[in-house]
Amino acid sequence: MLDLHDYIKAIPNFPEEGIIFRDITPLLADGAAYQQATSEIVAYAKARDVNVIVGPESRGFLVGAPVANEMGLGLVPARKPGKLPREVVSESYQLEYGTASLEMHTDAIKPGDKVLITDDLLATGGTIEATIKLVEALGGTVVGLAFFIELAGLKGRERLDGYDILALLEY
Ligand code: PRP
Ligand code: ADE
Repeated sequence: MLDLHDYIKAIPNFPEEGIIFRDITPLLADGAAYQQATSEIVAYAKARDVNVIVGPESRGFLVGAPVANEMGLGLVPARKPGKLPREVVSESYQLEYGTASLEMHTDAIKPGDKVLITDDLLATGGTIEATIKLVEALGGTVVGLAFFIELAGLKGRERLDGYDILALLEY
C-alpha cells in the first residue's frame, strides 16, 4: 500500500493569500497511486449498493470517472453554468474562495437511484451540498460521499451532517 499523502503537494497562498492549496496532480500522474485511491472508493461504493456516480465539475470528474468505469456504472456530471445543452436544475453555493453554481440535466437521475457523489476534496462542503440538492431534487438518494482529501478545519463534515463520508486523506 502506498501512502497517498506522498502524492499531494501543499501550495501556500494559491489561488489567494491565506489558502493552502492541496494539489492532487502528482497523485493523478502516478498510475499506482491513482489506481489505489480509485480502488478504495470502489470498495466503499460496492458496500453501499450504488447504481450511479455523480461528480461536480471539474475535479469531481477525475475521481468519479475511473470509479464508475471500474464498477461498470454510469457517470453523471454536475456542471458549471451554461455547459449542459438540455433542461437543467441549478444550485448556487459559496466556495472557500468565491461563489459558484452547478447544474444537472433533469433526466440525469431517476427516482430511486442510489447515488455516490465523488470529488477530490471536501473543504467547506458548499460544492457537495449543492450537488446533493441537485440529486435529491431529481428523486435520487445520496448513499455516500467520497473524497481523496478532507480539510477538517473547514468543517464540511458538520455541514453535511447525516450523510456518510469517505475521505482517504485528512489535513
Ligand atoms: C474545488 C474542489 C471541490 C471544492 C471544494 O473545486 O475540487 O469541488 O473546491 O470546496 P468546498 O467544499 O468549499 O465547496 P473548484 O470549485 O475550485 O473547481 P475545479 O474542480 O474546477 O477546480
Ligand atoms: N478547493 C477548495 N479549497 C481547496 C484547497 N485548499 N485546495 C485545493 N482545492 C480546494
